[in-house]
Amino acid sequence: MARPTIIDGGWQARLGFGNIATERYYSPEFRQLELERLWPRVWHVAGRATDLQKPGDYLTYEFGAESVLCVRQDDGGVRAFHNACIHRGRRLREPGMGSVHSFRCGYHHWEYGRDGSLVNVPEKELFPQLAERQSGCRLASLACEEFETYLWVHFDPNAPPLRDYLGEMAERLTDYDFASCALIADQSAEVECNWKVAVDNINEGYHVVRLHEQLQPIYDESQTCIEIVGDHNVGSAPFGIPSPQLDDRESVNDMLCGMMVEAGMDPAAYRGSAVGVREAIARHLRTRSPREFNFSRLSDAQLTDFFALFVFPNASFASTGLSHMFWRIRPHATDPGKCYFDQQSSIRVPKGEPHPPRPPASHFKAGEESLGTVPDQDAHNYARVQKGLQSRRVPEIILGEQELLVRHFHAVLDRYLGVEPRPR
Ligand code: FES
Ligand SMILES: [Fe+2]
Repeated sequence: MARPTIIDGGWQARLGFGNIATERYYSPEFRQLELERLWPRVWHVAGRATDLQKPGDYLTYEFGAESVLCVRQDDGGVRAFHNACIHRGRRLREPGMGSVHSFRCGYHHWEYGRDGSLVNVPEKELFPQLAERQSGCRLASLACEEFETYLWVHFDPNAPPLRDYLGEMAERLTDYDFASCALIADQSAEVECNWKVAVDNINEGYHVVRLHEQLQPIYDESQTCIEIVGDHNVGSAPFGIPSPQLDDRESVNDMLCGMMVEAGMDPAAYRGSAVGVREAIARHLRTRSPREFNFSRLSDAQLTDFFALFVFPNASFASTGLSHMFWRIRPHATDPGKCYFDQQSSIRVPKGEPHPPRPPASHFKAGEESLGTVPDQDAHNYARVQKGLQSRRVPEIILGEQELLVRHFHAVLDRYLGVEPRPR
């Protein structure tokens, strides 16, 4: 089996081959450490900024035990607040989206403006303590930035700028011009696993050629590539070229034909072999830029291949030239053995063409609805991995070279938590 190309191969030597203790996937103490030292100190993606078009548009989501409310402001910016009334703490809005003039709490009807300020208290004279500080009374705010069509939130209102957090990854995200991608599916699955089980999965391609065997006609695992970018990473998988494991790499198979059609080519007119399809698609897509698409910042490989840009600790922007997938894994409010796997699929829309209407968001337990063949295969493993990890007879996990990004992720996590990895 081919090894992945590692850009800056020094990482393997630096990170070594120590095993990782499994208790981090289920212990309440480890979850508590994450609550105290990880989540309050990282930027995370709140959602798509394009969902908040006009002043008063808001979105609400649960994140661990917290709930966040992002609101488009009258000045065009976006602010984020803790979704909790300052009177007696009631959640102001249920998870979802909507549009309001102001937020009135469902309990005693305290009312907040879009900017989070307290604008009305019924029978205000009953609260003499408010008289002194009414102008300072407002919802607790979080840091919020809009970047590359996504909304990013940090629990610390005085957080360092998002750009500093992303470092070089900011440029990599910009390459893909997400603004030209339209959402076609928005799903959220509750999964019976620790949030890191799902993150580990999106950080390694070792499983792909076996678990997603059906991809072999279009996926050459021998050319996978991994790159560490600060605390983040990029993993890529060459699409449009058959696996070397297939005996026939000459005949153009149906899946390759499908990719050509998707790129706007006529497979019947293609005269080359199967291994040449990837290049041919890239050449063809290049002819459609800049008239239809803005591919100026993408390499030929980025036009066909699947590049997953992982932003620590829980988001992946996985794109080809024509498609874009966003994954976010949210921790559960109380249970380290559960998480939420959010998947938003988008397609790139040619310039001048209308974007399709936004699809409704769906929420379900894993297995009740399909996330697509490949993510279903992944999700099928999650709960089973979690069960196995909790077995006392599996005290550690063993990571190989192709799982270097998993190892790097845990090293960054350990740094945040201030814990020493416990290699054997
Ligand atoms: S808890 Fe919101 S008004 Fe009382
Ligand atoms: Fe997978």
